[in-house]
Amino acid sequence: MRVLVTGGAGYIGSVVSARLLERGYDVTVLDNLTAGHRRAIPAGARFVHADLAEGAMLPHLLDEERVEAVMHFAANIKVGESMRMPMRYLGDNVRNALNLLDAVTTVGLKRFIFSSTAALFAPSDSPIGEGDTIEPASPYGESKLMIEQALRWLDATTGLRYAALRYFNAAGAWGNLGEDHRPESHLIPVVLKVALGENGKVGIFGDDYPTSDGTCVRDYIHVVDLADAHIACLGALEQGSRAYNLGNGRGFSVMEVVEVARRVTGHPIEAEVLPRRPGDSPWLVADSSRIREELGWSPQMPDLETIVATAWEWHRQHPRGYEE
Ligand code: UFG
Repeated sequence: MRVLVTGGAGYIGSVVSARLLERGYDVTVLDNLTAGHRRAIPAGARFVHADLAEGAMLPHLLDEERVEAVMHFAANIKVGESMRMPMRYLGDNVRNALNLLDAVTTVGLKRFIFSSTAALFAPSDSPIGEGDTIEPASPYGESKLMIEQALRWLDATTGLRYAALRYFNAAGAWGNLGEDHRPESHLIPVVLKVALGENGKVGIFGDDYPTSDGTCVRDYIHVVDLADAHIACLGALEQGSRAYNLGNGRGFSVMEVVEVARRVTGHPIEAEVLPRRPGDSPWLVADSSRIREELGWSPQMPDLETIVATAWEWHRQHPRGYEE
């Protein structure tokens, strides 16, 4: 089966592409390389350097590449940025996804996998299942919800079968593939850059949240475990559309993540408390029992120390990320 992976030069998309290739799928990566890296595109994938904003070429591309399923990762991904630049999310992210869906329905493709997010749920102090209250706290979360709603209607009206995967916090590295955002804003790579000596200290965005130590709690899931959930969903799409929450079911506060990174790296990692970052939910932990029960998926690397250790290994081997 030939799969089009949009954002396949990015962090999660590149790992999914590599895992698909390993399992014998044909992969075409589409990426505009504004955030992705050419070097992250796995050998063996075909590469189309294009932008989803140019919607008119997409039906032709899907035909020409003989695409049978689409996995859509390409998007702006920062919760905090979406509070300052909402139209990058409510505008660009939504428009690009709709361009892609427009093309998918035009050519009659029936398989679609969508990168969604935990950030569409209302904060909760217990693990969040698929039936919990949906109430995005940021334009980022809202933009993902808008596309999930479009998908529901396309399923009902055109027979498109989709999976929306609500990621909790993707982390870790796999082989030559790791996390390299410019500028980096994600907690684990930011902390590891302090350990590498690249940054002096890590800023902790708020210590006055209603959590055990006052810092925000997240559920970190290894990027390979996320990738394998996509492949499991692709195999099951014919039985119907679905949305799944994907995490390990354990929450770690920002301070706990810093502690784990200190243990893994052996570096003191200086931290200072800064004001809250607008748009952050205090507590986001997944209840992923539905995908476990329905598809038999289970995370192979649930332990946070292991996750951080894989990221640390990658950062040590790639101190300048994907740069030469
Ligand atoms: N944090 C800091 N200091 C930093 C960076 C982050 O204190 O330098 C805190 C944040 O405030 C937040 C937590 O660490 O409380 C995690 O922040 P990240 O930026 O690493 O990740 P987010 O939880 O904001 O968002 C990530 C992805 C989203 C995804 C979401 C799902 O960026 O795309 O996880 O939970 F949707």
